[in-house]
Amino acid sequence: MIIAANLKTNLTRVQTGEYIANLETFLQTSGVKQDVYIFPAISSLDSFQTSACVGAQNCYPTKNGAFTGEIGVDHLDEFGIKTILIGHSERRHILGETKEQIAAKFEYFKKLGYTIVYCVGEPLEKREAGEAVMMEYIDAQYKGIDTAYEKLIIAYEPVWAIGTGLTPSSEDIKNIHTKLKEKSNAPLLYGGSVKVNNAKEIMALENVDGVLVGSAALHVEDFAQMIADAQHLES
Ligand code: PGA
Repeated sequence: MIIAANLKTNLTRVQTGEYIANLETFLQTSGVKQDVYIFPAISSLDSFQTSACVGAQNCYPTKNGAFTGEIGVDHLDEFGIKTILIGHSERRHILGETKEQIAAKFEYFKKLGYTIVYCVGEPLEKREAGEAVMMEYIDAQYKGIDTAYEKLIIAYEPVWAIGTGLTPSSEDIKNIHTKLKEKSNAPLLYGGSVKVNNAKEIMALENVDGVLVGSAALHVEDFAQMIADAQHLES
C-alpha cells in the first residue's frame, strides 16, 4: 500500500529532520514493507537519510528563472527529489490554481519523469447536488491529465473532508473509488481526515490502494501506526 504524509505548512527543517529520523527508526526496526511518501514544506527539504520517498508539495514548472516566491526544478534536484503533489485542493481553492495551470504543471513534470500524486475531489456543494453533478465535477479534473502515465498515483480527497474531521462513509468511498478506477489504473489513495482510528478500515476497502494523510500525519507515532496497519492488512 501507499501511505503518504502531506505535512503542508508545518514543521521547520529541524523538526522535519527529527520527524524523518524517527520515522526511519520505525521503518528499519518494524520491517514493514509499504510505499511511504513524505511531502515536507518546501523550505524544510533537505538531503534526508530515509528509505521513504520524499516529494515536493509544489514546484513551478520551470528549471529556474524570474518567478518570485516560487521554486524550480533546480531546487528539487539539489535534494534528488523526483516526486511531486499536483492538484491538491488547497492549491486549487486557496491559491487559485486553475485547471489549465494544473494540466500544464502535470505535463511538465511528466516529461521529466516525476512520480506525480495527482489530487481530485469535490467541494460540499457539488456532493450535495447529487451524484451526477459530483461525478461531472470530478471528471473535469481528469481532463488534460494523462491518466495512463506510468508514474501516476491518484488521490481522491473530498474537499469537505480535508482537515474537518468529516469523512464519507466506507460505502461512499468504495463506490467513488470503484468509479474512479474506471478512469485510470493508477493506484488510488483516499485522503481527507484519515486518522489512526479510521485508517485501517479505509485501507481495507476495495479499490483503495492507500491513504494521503494531512494533520494526523504530523504526529510521527500516528503516521507509523497507519503504516503498521497497512502492513497488517497485507499479511
Ligand atoms: P487532512 O488532510 O488529513 O488533514 O484532512 C489531507 C490532505 O489535505 O491531503
